[in-house]
Amino acid sequence: MSRKEIVLVTGANGEVGHGLIKHLGENQLANIVAIDIHPLDEELRPYCREMITGDILDKMLLGRLVFAYEIRTIYHLASILSTRAEFNPEAAHRVNVEGTLNLLRLGVEQSQWQGRAVKFIYPSSIAVYGLPDLATKEREGRLSEWQWTAPRTMYGCNKLYCEHLGRYYASYYRQLARDRHPASIDFRCVRFPGLISAFTLPAGGTSDYAPEMIHQAAQNLPYACFVRPDTRIPFMVMPDAVRALVDLEAAPRAQLSTEVYNVTSFSLSAAEIRAEVRNEFPQAQVSFEPDLARQGIIDSWPADVDDDLARKDWDWRPQYGHQQAFYNYLFPNIRQRYA
Ligand code: SER
Repeated sequence: MSRKEIVLVTGANGEVGHGLIKHLGENQLANIVAIDIHPLDEELRPYCREMITGDILDKMLLGRLVFAYEIRTIYHLASILSTRAEFNPEAAHRVNVEGTLNLLRLGVEQSQWQGRAVKFIYPSSIAVYGLPDLATKEREGRLSEWQWTAPRTMYGCNKLYCEHLGRYYASYYRQLARDRHPASIDFRCVRFPGLISAFTLPAGGTSDYAPEMIHQAAQNLPYACFVRPDTRIPFMVMPDAVRALVDLEAAPRAQLSTEVYNVTSFSLSAAEIRAEVRNEFPQAQVSFEPDLARQGIIDSWPADVDDDLARKDWDWRPQYGHQQAFYNYLFPNIRQRYA
């Protein structure tokens, strides 16, 4: 029986899922099978060959996929973000870690079935970093992949651990077993900065003040920013995030010297974001009302990250720097969205 080659996308309804599915679908780059806990958004349906409403913790559901399709790549996007995860850390752990484990296992089974490595593309996050205080954050500036990885959120712990699990499943899975099968997954991971989309809003993240500020201003609604004006982390707009994922998938394995890559575009303070927003929407009402707990999380994330390795290994370059991000992508599209 011949099986169809597909790309599996988990967390399909999420911010990144939206961007990725549209990109893959519009450019006819893949037959997409989408999984989400909620029914797939109407606008994504035309791009997908199959939509599965279900839980990545449901092993039976995933088991069925092993036999139904020939999976080229798994984009495992499903996750509970950093703020939401703090309200129920154990539930977040189940989704973020056990869910990932289930997908890794599916990837290994598929790889063995096919006799070649299924690509496993995993978005990690700046949340894997944990700087102890603001003085250190300021002093350290751009962090490379291996520095200060002592996260202080459940989400950050989950992401960091899953980076390690990915490496383990790709290279060392059942390393002592006599009947060890040679084929396993080809695990590739990008650590994203805060992401901003013109078309969707994130749910439950701690970097959400940036997208929220912009989207609120475009609707002429007031916004109380939950971090201090001097708060600085790196950001990227969604088209670059999607390109990072698909470019990493396309990169020849021989060029990749590691499994985990920082990617970034621009680093801005909350005050600088407000200045851009006010430049475009002079009537915007943005105040600063820091939430000390969420502020503590953001203060532990780096002011910037070093993505030189991604640039060197697979030619990563963001297309949207600071100015292009606001004036060529965010503002025109957001204006149109709320017009
Ligand atoms: N944007 C995410 C969050 O705030 C970080 O990966 O949780």
